[in-house]
Amino acid sequence: NMLIVDFGSQVTQLIARRLRELGIYCEIHPFNAMTPDFLTRFAPQAVILSGGPASVPDADSPRPPQEIFELGVPILGICYGQQVMTQMLGGRVERGDHSAEFGRARVTASDLRDPLLDGWFEGGDEQVWMSHGDHVAELATGFEVLATSPGAPFAIVADRARHFYGVQFHPEVHHTPRGRALLSAFVRLAGFTGDWTMAAYRDEAIAKIREQVGEGRVICGLSGGVDSSVAAVLLHEAIGDRLTCVFVDHGLLRKGEAEEVVTMFRDHYNIPLIVAEESDRFLTALDGESDPEIKRKTIGRLFIDVFQDKVAEAGDAEFLAQGTLYPDVIESVSFSGGPSVTIKSHHNVGGLPEKMGLKLVEPLRELFKDEVRALGSELGLPPSFIGRHPFPGPGLAIRCPGEITREKLAILREADAVFIDQIRKHGLYDEIWQAFVAILPVRTVGVMGDGRTYDFACALRAVTSVDGMTADYYPFTHDFLGETATRLINEVRGINRVTYDVTSKPPGTIEWE
Ligand code: XMP
Repeated sequence: NMLIVDFGSQVTQLIARRLRELGIYCEIHPFNAMTPDFLTRFAPQAVILSGGPASVPDADSPRPPQEIFELGVPILGICYGQQVMTQMLGGRVERGDHSAEFGRARVTASDLRDPLLDGWFEGGDEQVWMSHGDHVAELATGFEVLATSPGAPFAIVADRARHFYGVQFHPEVHHTPRGRALLSAFVRLAGFTGDWTMAAYRDEAIAKIREQVGEGRVICGLSGGVDSSVAAVLLHEAIGDRLTCVFVDHGLLRKGEAEEVVTMFRDHYNIPLIVAEESDRFLTALDGESDPEIKRKTIGRLFIDVFQDKVAEAGDAEFLAQGTLYPDVIESVSFSGGPSVTIKSHHNVGGLPEKMGLKLVEPLRELFKDEVRALGSELGLPPSFIGRHPFPGPGLAIRCPGEITREKLAILREADAVFIDQIRKHGLYDEIWQAFVAILPVRTVGVMGDGRTYDFACALRAVTSVDGMTADYYPFTHDFLGETATRLINEVRGINRVTYDVTSKPPGTIEWE
């Protein structure tokens, strides 16, 4: 069990990612959560101190508790972590007013025998990513230098007797090409074998759910997306029919989606499922509304009402399961956290209120998105389901700019199905982060056969992205676009014009609203 102490670096999550890739289970906790009691309970086998934006010479800069150095386990300090360890163990850190070092640098090993450098420093020097203002000026007692760089005479330092290591650079980022080998050397010298696998995780997670839930009953909201689906299947393995799933059909789903969810969960997995077919209620509430934020709020509010009704129907549940993921859980350490602007107020199944009086079960809260997918495979969910594009909670409502009508929704569903079919047929689905059609609030004139048409225009949207935060439009070939436009106009009644949206994010957003 590896403990990562967070001092607020932008890249702390990457340390966890790299370790998990090495088959090591680890958790990130903020520096100010390190009470002696916490350390006893967590009982880490090794500790990594992250980087951070603070400056060690400042009197109020963040510190781990001194006890962390008395646990008798290997410690790796990265950047700020190296500096704070040095200072606390009797060395000295200098403010780097004139000697900041940012970007690529080469470090040269002065001692290749050390296990930390083993298998890493093949040629005696390596490229690393530096990003620091301050630097170590005097080593702590018991430490020696293992490697230097032109800007950092203490690029790697070690107290070999205690297995304390400090690196001035960031081994967790991609710009340190062999950083993974350094982390790997550290975990090996700390005695980890790297045997953390999804199969092991699944068994652990099932045991944890059983322990938490006991003989209780659990309700789980299904959205049709990967997270809630994986959570539901995992819970069902753990507690069987003491799980009830609730699926709200708000009338804003894609073609065939509600049926797919029912087939998969009720028929295939035999999970007790309540389907709330409430499209009338949602569409009536949205009638005449064209403001995107009001659409979202209306849908979010109604969703909670409907969900609460269904939970009451399901009887005596004590627990509510949510597919919360690790990135939502990590308490971020923020030093300069000003308020950020709300671009869109997201609504999804995860946003159910605490006032429902149910205890939360969050079986995915230790996992990153791709780990959830791996767990889904482990649980036997079909690859086509695991690889599904994300779909927003408000659904087609935000792909129908302007007023939502049943007619427009029906056209949109058909058009979207044709577009996705085209993408699948051309083998492009997995290269694309998200693809959909938006139906535009304008009718345009066309000619078909000998007749005049006056139908809706639509926009195709397909983007590549890593996390949805930034995105670029997908470079379809002209042939693909032409073929898709022809199919849409021929197969979908109500569409007579097709455009392709080539806006990136920023300045655009992925959805149209
Ligand atoms: P934007 O449009 O903000 O989308 O670039 C980024 C990602 O978030 C999804 N999205 C939403 N998801 N509720 C959701 O659950 C929402 O209100 C919402 N709005 C956007 C969008 O589909 C994309 O994956």
